[in-house]
Amino acid sequence: MNSHLIIRQEETKDHKAVFNLVKEAFAAMEHSDHKEQYLVERLRNSDAFIPELSLVAEIDGQIAGYILLTRLAVKDGIRQFLSLALAPVAVHPAFQNKGIGRSLIEHAHHIADNLGYSSVILLGHADYYPRFGYVPTVQYGIKLPFDVPDENCMVKVLNPDTFGDTKGIVEYPGAFFE
Ligand SMILES: CC(C)(COP(=O)(O)OP(=O)(O)OC[C@H]1O[C@@H](n2cnc3c(N)ncnc32)[C@H](O)[C@@H]1OP(=O)(O)O)[C@@H](O)C(=O)NCCC(=O)NCCS
Repeated sequence: MNSHLIIRQEETKDHKAVFNLVKEAFAAMEHSDHKEQYLVERLRNSDAFIPELSLVAEIDGQIAGYILLTRLAVKDGIRQFLSLALAPVAVHPAFQNKGIGRSLIEHAHHIADNLGYSSVILLGHADYYPRFGYVPTVQYGIKLPFDVPDENCMVKVLNPDTFGDTKGIVEYPGAFFE
């Protein structure tokens, strides 16, 4: 079904298509402020941005999905740990449930691991992400700075050696709150 699916790094020429795609993907979402497309624009212009981890899914030349992983810090009061935020991942409604979300997430994990990142943290659907190895952050003593259920705060450990005993409070890039 996905024979013509390509996952590649986003380029400047994709920005408009990504904006529209993210807007449409979140349009019908209940737990959304419907402004995720602006979050992407702010993150692209921030210090937290990692070009290699801004990926598009292209089917026959059309942008069908997008994922962004940006740098964040986990702080326990004394120490600071480097991690990544997964936000957002979006697949155009016309292309959902075809494995594109899975391809984007798995590609992003692979690249993040190769770049030396130890983990990915997200706030998301409790019944979607566990299939990719995400577990509640509370299991590691990691807390997100939002008043949300523990089951929606998840972490994927990419490399247990470098992850070590990462714990503390997640500090998102300022761009998340502008
Ligand atoms: C969530 C999303 C990225 C998944 O992408 P996708 O390409 O449709 O997903 P895949 O084809 O890889 O996986 C399909 C599976 O995900 C499940 N799924 C899709 N959206 C889901 C959701 N919102 N909650 C829980 N499970 C979901 C499907 O039920 C399906 O499950 P199954 O394999 O057991 O049948 C996509 O549906 C989307 O863009 N949704 C709107 C934006 C959004 O919610 N983004 C994530 C914010 S946390």
